[in-house]
Amino acid sequence: MDANQNPTQGDYFVIKAKENGVQVIGLTRGHDTKFHHTEKLDKGEVMLAQFTAHTSAVKIRGKAIVMTKHGVLDTEE
Ligand code: TRP
Repeated sequence: MDANQNPTQGDYFVIKAKENGVQVIGLTRGHDTKFHHTEKLDKGEVMLAQFTAHTSAVKIRGKAIVMTKHGVLDTEE
């Protein structure tokens, strides 16, 4: 069973904000790809989240460190 069917099976990712006002934007799974949630993080705040049945993509605005199973990214580099 994959993340499409079971929301508890999705990959986790971690975002650590390097400045105030970093936005973590969840985009819907399925035919329509729309923003469904925007979370604002201030400097030093950390968010752990999953890809779920409702969330297929995530957009990050601002300076942050992003950790996934694919590696660690700095949005500034
Ligand atoms: N209700 C959303 C969901 O279950 C919550 C969520 C999960 C979310 N992962 C996210 C929101 C990533 C923004 C970014 O899919």
